[in-house]
Amino acid sequence: MFKTKNDLPEDTRAMVIELLNARLADAIDLQSQTKQAHWNVKGPNFIALHELFDKINKNAADNVDDLAERIVQLGGVAEGTVRTAAKRTSLAEYPSYTVDGRSHVEALSSVLAAFGKSVRRAVAETSDLGDADTADLLTEISCSIDKWLWFVEAHQQAQR
Ligand SMILES: [Fe+2]
Repeated sequence: MFKTKNDLPEDTRAMVIELLNARLADAIDLQSQTKQAHWNVKGPNFIALHELFDKINKNAADNVDDLAERIVQLGGVAEGTVRTAAKRTSLAEYPSYTVDGRSHVEALSSVLAAFGKSVRRAVAETSDLGDADTADLLTEISCSIDKWLWFVEAHQQAQR
């Protein structure tokens, strides 16, 4: 931990940093999985899904940056290499057989939902730790994930 004049107690910062590094690994995994979907989707809805998946990727990249920079603001070290992310991620691997739009919609909605769940849990955890600012940042991320989950899942919701 680095010295900082930030007034959050050191033990709070240490716990929040550890928690944020875990979510950073997930966010980096999500970022690469959205590109995987963007590159490989095929079928009748190709262009709509190709462009949607890239928008989600850009949001995922912003989330990575925000999480990493919050870690550093708290006096920590952002552990954000792809090797570290691959070791630590809690998300399942993107299915390699995914080709058609429907399969990508199913795969990406599953990973978005899993990431959203872990971020929402982190909102409650950081709030309990007394770091309202990190909880707010995580709330913003979980709101955006809920929006993208809707965008993706709406493709399968024409029938209830
Ligand atoms: Fe592209």
